[in-house]
Amino acid sequence: MRRVAPILPEVAGIGLRTPHVAQVRAEKPAVGWFEVHSENYFVDGGPALEVLDAVRRDYPIALHGVGLSLGSADALDAEHLARLKRLAARIEPAAISEHLCWGRIDGRHLNDLLPLPFTEESLALVAGRVDAVQSALGRPLLVENISAYLRFDADTMTEWEFLRALALKAGCSILFDVNNVYVNAVNHGFDPRDYLAAIPRDAVAEIHLAGFDDTGTCLIDTHGARVAAPVWALYREAIDRFGPKPTLIEWDTELPAFEVLLEEAARAQAVLDRVDAIAL
Ligand SMILES: [Fe+2]
Repeated sequence: MRRVAPILPEVAGIGLRTPHVAQVRAEKPAVGWFEVHSENYFVDGGPALEVLDAVRRDYPIALHGVGLSLGSADALDAEHLARLKRLAARIEPAAISEHLCWGRIDGRHLNDLLPLPFTEESLALVAGRVDAVQSALGRPLLVENISAYLRFDADTMTEWEFLRALALKAGCSILFDVNNVYVNAVNHGFDPRDYLAAIPRDAVAEIHLAGFDDTGTCLIDTHGARVAAPVWALYREAIDRFGPKPTLIEWDTELPAFEVLLEEAARAQAVLDRVDAIAL
């Protein structure tokens, strides 16, 4: 089967959602790459996988997981990991990512990305899990910072210190979600530039951009709006620091027409192109 190479290019990509698949297949838009949610394809066959195969022939695909629960006190879910490995063998993704969170306890799966205490104990646990996942997959894992609406009294380090330490300790790459950094900065009252400054530029392998809702008392990471102006500003600072990185437009709720996602991707691409031009 002929396919484009499984390399995540340093250009803008789009999160591919079911309502847009037919349009993408028919029109083959000029998008650098697509990202899909891994768990949506944890099936042994059928139309969804066949469609993903078809898209994969034309575009690099990143697999983005929400259910591996890297930070759970429970052991890793061997069946989940096996399904991810089978999917990766079939799709040959350009990247595989998961969240810095937990979501499983006593064998029950909670349908949420729940925050971890930033302690040496949880750092050791997550680093061990990342190592185990990378060994099991035989592929690198990107770990993404999440939006979180609480902090723990037990925290002994900041979120950015924890993420930096994880990347160094586990030897994994970071999926740096700029919107999540901004949402947490506003909700928890820190300077997002401190976060940026702590992240090693070579550790960042992918960037996410998304929209939030402002309730008036806090920001909620809904993935249901255009990227907000201060997030674009922080993204420009991130690209200035990290250099051009593959950048995804994530949109999951109140899904708009595909053309809106193309507009957002074009905006991200303009930022990437500007940095490339400066480098010349
Ligand atoms: Fe994200």
